[in-house]
Amino acid sequence: MIQITLYIALFVIKSIDGRTIDQYSHRREQLIQEEIASSLGGRIVLNNEEKTANGILMYWKNKEIDESFHNPAYFNFSRHYFTYKKYMETSKVYQIVRKMPKGAALHVHSSAMLHEDNLLQLTYEDHLYACYTNNDLSLRFSDTVPVRPCPVKWSLLTELRNASGDVTAFDQELKKHLTMYTENVKDFDSDINNVWKRFNQVYTVVKSLIGYRPVREKFFYAALKNFYNDNVMYVEIRSGLHQLHELNGTLHDKMYLAQLYRDVASKFKEDYPDFQGVKLIMTRHRTVDLNQLREALDVARQLKRDMPKMFAGFDLVGQEDLGKPLIDFLPELTKAKNEMDFFFHGGETNWYGTPTDENLFDAILLGAKRIGHAYALVKHPSLLVSVKQKDIALEVNVISNAVLALVRDVRNHPLATYLALGLPVVLSSDDPGSWGAAPLSHDFYVAFVAVASKHADLRMLKQLAINSIRYSALNENEKIQSFKMFNHHWNRFIKDIIKHDKQR
Ligand SMILES: *[C@@H]1O[C@H](CO)[C@@H](O)[C@H](O)[C@H]1NC(C)=O
Ligand SMILES: *[C@@H]1O[C@H](CO)[C@@H](O)[C@H](O)[C@H]1NC(C)=O
Ligand SMILES: *[C@@H]1O[C@H](CO)[C@@H](O)[C@H](O)[C@H]1NC(C)=O
Ligand SMILES: [Zn+2]
Repeated sequence: MIQITLYIALFVIKSIDGRTIDQYSHRREQLIQEEIASSLGGRIVLNNEEKTANGILMYWKNKEIDESFHNPAYFNFSRHYFTYKKYMETSKVYQIVRKMPKGAALHVHSSAMLHEDNLLQLTYEDHLYACYTNNDLSLRFSDTVPVRPCPVKWSLLTELRNASGDVTAFDQELKKHLTMYTENVKDFDSDINNVWKRFNQVYTVVKSLIGYRPVREKFFYAALKNFYNDNVMYVEIRSGLHQLHELNGTLHDKMYLAQLYRDVASKFKEDYPDFQGVKLIMTRHRTVDLNQLREALDVARQLKRDMPKMFAGFDLVGQEDLGKPLIDFLPELTKAKNEMDFFFHGGETNWYGTPTDENLFDAILLGAKRIGHAYALVKHPSLLVSVKQKDIALEVNVISNAVLALVRDVRNHPLATYLALGLPVVLSSDDPGSWGAAPLSHDFYVAFVAVASKHADLRMLKQLAINSIRYSALNENEKIQSFKMFNHHWNRFIKDIIKHDKQR
């Protein structure tokens, strides 16, 4: 009805003055194009091959969006991620995004990098003891029965598995402790504390599995392999550097894990020379007291001294609403500010005007190089300006925000606004292993199809990949190398899209 009225109105205007309507259409188109040009990637100029590839990509993207637009019931992204995760791989857009060289993953927590299927394999290693109570599981590699509390008794996992009589069912049950993912999620749980509780449970079990030094080596190598296979060329891991142990219980110091990451990454790079490597953002839980924070900063200083190529900076982690705000640590952080780079989590909250929300002010005032999540930034107009002026990158993790109860329908994610404003965004996946996500492809796909404008195209995807290198902690030479490698992979990717475009 509105449309008909509009047509009549236009017809009347047109018949009155043909030029008026032409001018209107021109101005309208101009405004739309200006907006697209100032959005993220809007100023990239595609070459002819890229234009062809873009046509293919956008054919599939438009088809997917149009289908949902006309049948919102089919729109999966307004539901819980767990309900549509397994269908994503059938999407043509997803298949292209998966092959795309995505540059770097700049926001991932090291213990949550690996998929539950890979974690399950690690439970087949020898000497693994399990303490199974009703809802809880603890794991410990040990040469003798672990001398740590267990309400029931420690048993070898191989024996439990064997005794179960049904290995598949046993492993299925075991996997429930290694991931939050579940086939039968009822609905979006809006109690963020509840969701984080479950998340922390999974985290704790996984950490108990990978506390053993040789298993941590295998874990990290397998994680890098998954990222590499997902076309990620460089990773910045966040790690609290927990103490690893040997089978006889001997503990290593914190620096040992940093060295292990460095050595495994270096071995991985030998095996896959086009991989660009790993750097480390050291973290501490945001519930710590002042003394613990001082100690952590001292470890960070030592890391920077002893492993300057590996060390990227410092961050505080954990559920932001329940932890201490940055301002509680102001004297220590101000002192450390000139000694190291900060990559603070900030504004991972829905609580507007609270101390959590205001972490964003401190992250910016303390000179953070990038901000983790910055979910609440959209509510702070002056900070939006600062971020753009100071060129502070925002590490956005859409699926994490959906799983961890900040947003239900991802069309409402503030990333849409950040992209439209052309802010320096990088996409990452936070804890992909904890919910069974692909290292980066799921996040890229959801952001591209469900959060970004329908108009957003290959240029936005390319800019996101470029940003991930530009805003990384790589030094200038390393960036030049990475861009060289990226361009090489990108050109191959463009040719591949065109070559495989037969189904149309
Ligand atoms: C959406 O989910 C349905 C099942 O609920 C599935 O059949 C369909 O393939 C999914 N669509 C996409 C684009 O993932
Ligand atoms: C596995 O269980 C069977 C009986 O169910 C037993 O005969 C066998 O010795 C067990 N193997 C191991 C390695 O425990
Ligand atoms: C414990 O094991 C490690 C590694 O196998 C070994 O280097 C260390 O000497 C052992 N310590 C003791 C007390 O047996
Ligand atoms: Zn995080």
